[in-house]
Amino acid sequence: MAGKILVLGATGNVGKPLVGELLAKGEQVKAASRSGKAAGRAEGVRFDFTDETTFAPALDGVDRAYVLAPTGTLDVLGTVLPFVRLAAERKVKIVFQSVSGADANDDIPYRQIEIFIERSGTPYVILRPNWFTDNFEIFWLQGIKHGVISVPAGEGKSAFIDVRDIAASAAAALTTDKFDGQAFNLTGPEALSYGDAAEILSQASGRAIAYKPATDGEFVSTLVSAGVPKAYAEFLAAIFHPVREGWTASVSNAVQTLTGKAPRSVETYARDYAGVFAA
Ligand SMILES: NC(=O)c1ccc[n+]([C@@H]2O[C@H](COP(=O)([O-])OP(=O)(O)OC[C@H]3O[C@@H](n4cnc5c(N)ncnc54)[C@H](OP(=O)(O)O)[C@@H]3O)[C@@H](O)[C@H]2O)c1
Repeated sequence: MAGKILVLGATGNVGKPLVGELLAKGEQVKAASRSGKAAGRAEGVRFDFTDETTFAPALDGVDRAYVLAPTGTLDVLGTVLPFVRLAAERKVKIVFQSVSGADANDDIPYRQIEIFIERSGTPYVILRPNWFTDNFEIFWLQGIKHGVISVPAGEGKSAFIDVRDIAASAAAALTTDKFDGQAFNLTGPEALSYGDAAEILSQASGRAIAYKPATDGEFVSTLVSAGVPKAYAEFLAAIFHPVREGWTASVSNAVQTLTGKAPRSVETYARDYAGVFAA
């Protein structure tokens, strides 16, 4: 594979460590962001899903692309499909970051993107991550600073995955063809409830952090008062339904298969970022 790798969302949670992984493997990387700024040794390129004139220049010289919808995207299909269509026309290999459970129903927008890619004839790998462990500092940090994680998860468990393991899995999928044509459910090593996670974060940080299950209504109003748009807060509440039902508790060996290494536990994550939660 002689071309460059385009990484969408290169300034984001997965994109940033992914760019690092790919550079360490000696790949030539185009790091896409709306600013177009370079990312370390990676070339920067301006890319905006809402501006189709940025698509073709981003794909110049590229034979592989990591594709994800930014957090907060409500119309995932309408946002991602026009770019995916162009990449597939150019026979660029697509590694698509979908979501855990997307394959439950063909009407799910993430599944519709997967189906489009599968039928397009371009090489592809689909990655379906479970809930990110890093959400504890992405979405739930404000509550944690007040000693509480309050989400509508009930006692449901999730096989939380560290974004560093998503990035390593993505790097593997992008740099070999041996996983082409496959989909992987990316999980951490075990399923934990939010109560379990709160205990682990308490131990690592030395602060008491409790889990208080919220109703959907309580959860949405907390997020809205923290500035999250209501429609996205409602979407987040809705995706806790599968957690309460126990559908996010399955553990896979996909990270081991893709990277040759076991995924990081929530304990490891909590130790590595203890300072963030201690403050
Ligand atoms: N969080 C979870 O637990 C979880 C679990 C499973 C799957 N997922 C999926 O993972 C994806 C999010 O991944 P992530 O957290 O790595 O992404 P992210 O950090 O939320 O976003 C990545 C980047 O997208 C860029 N961006 C924002 N608007 C854009 C636009 N209009 N056009 C192009 N780029 C834009 C931003 O960079 P610039 O501002 O620099 O452009 C941002 O840094 C979502 O599809 C989500 O459904 C999340």
